[in-house]
Amino acid sequence: MAEFKTVRGMRDFLPEEARLLRHVEGRAREVARLYRYREIVTPVVESYELLSAKAGEEVKSRMFLFKDLGGRDVALRPEFTASVARLVATTLRNEPRPFRLFSVGSIYRYDEPQRGRYREFWQTNYELMGSSRPEADAEILLLTNSLMQTAGLKKFAFKVGHIGVLRGILTQEKLVDKVQSAVMQLMDKKQYEDAFRLVESAGVSETCILTLQKLVELKGNNVLDVVDRVAELVGDYEKSVEASRNLGEILDLVLKSRCDVDMTVDAGFARGLEYYTGMILEVYVPDLDIALGGGGRYDRLIELFGGDPTPAVGVAHGVDRLMLALQEQKAAQRTLRETEEERAVLVVPIKEELRGEALRVSQMLRNAGVSVELEVMGRKMAKALEDADRRKMSYAVIIGERELKEGAVVVRNLAKRVQSTVKIEDVLEAVKS
Ligand code: HAM
Repeated sequence: MAEFKTVRGMRDFLPEEARLLRHVEGRAREVARLYRYREIVTPVVESYELLSAKAGEEVKSRMFLFKDLGGRDVALRPEFTASVARLVATTLRNEPRPFRLFSVGSIYRYDEPQRGRYREFWQTNYELMGSSRPEADAEILLLTNSLMQTAGLKKFAFKVGHIGVLRGILTQEKLVDKVQSAVMQLMDKKQYEDAFRLVESAGVSETCILTLQKLVELKGNNVLDVVDRVAELVGDYEKSVEASRNLGEILDLVLKSRCDVDMTVDAGFARGLEYYTGMILEVYVPDLDIALGGGGRYDRLIELFGGDPTPAVGVAHGVDRLMLALQEQKAAQRTLRETEEERAVLVVPIKEELRGEALRVSQMLRNAGVSVELEVMGRKMAKALEDADRRKMSYAVIIGERELKEGAVVVRNLAKRVQSTVKIEDVLEAVKS
């Protein structure tokens, strides 16, 4: 029989990695609590129509799409946003706004596998729905900043922009939505020349091309200053000026929060997902040129799904990439040490007849909250202790006939290599000391 492997792009998390994954997830949940985002759990499988509505060509072409046995076109979710928007457009329709909703789980995209890029990966996702105000956008930035910090990252930076700047120009130049989206896809991949050619072939003005060419050059971390320069540059395009003012307001609020946020404004920044209407963001770390998170404002998705017009802004973080960055920055070890497992006890019966007693003592300790492993390999005492020692367990509780007659067992401190006879009712005390 062939040797089984994981399917391409899929991978196993061994205990250390699984622990790091759950650590990041735990921190994300803590951030959700602090910012009051309530967790919802949505299905992994959704209708293709819902998922593809505004996903953009790139994500659409990479979906795990199939027909279920009922003949429905369904897909594995390539993100959370569509599912959350569906809920708000339907079940939550009449609930008071704003909504702050958090999700975490596995996501599927048929991407080309490479470092930090998988076909099954994990996201933590936050959506703030019901507010069009800049403080909502600022909250999404600050929340991401909090998450990166509490997860243990030492160095990271935001790239921010506003899709309304580009869209404003292209709309005023009368480019239809479909062409606009194609331009955004190219800009997202930094294929600027192709993007310009496409715009040019749509018969735009000379000013338009010149403005776009200058825009993609405009970036910097003196954010309010860059925003002012963007506003100046797009002066001929009313909606674009409005968009840059909006970005200015958002960034001004972030600065006023006095949080230490490392941001760069990139005027030519676009994202592949098609639903964005406003501020957009991505997070990067110095040694990885892949985004650790991305998001932005999308004010029309919920009405597109049949809900009431509901402005919204949100962000998703790539947990796998966060783990990678933690490992790169040597923060993973520290992080894992901090979440080190509590002390563990091995319970070993000296002979087979004492297995029942061993189970009873194990259960007593577990009921008191101590984690216990029972020796299930039937090994000799010395072997079992050697193995427990190698795995850095703290204590062994040895169930012997002679001690048991006195209602006692032997408790061995594995690190100190000392042992004593302890009454069964005092074992808990002994392994906690
Ligand atoms: P996204 O930028 O497509 O946005 O994905 C968010 C994050 O997921 C990325 O920044 C990256 O860290 C991670 N990611 C994406 N693809 C992969 C992959 N193949 N392997 C590993 N990690 C990956 C969204 O998904 C939007 N729904 C975010 C959003 C929420 N916008 C508004 N609300």
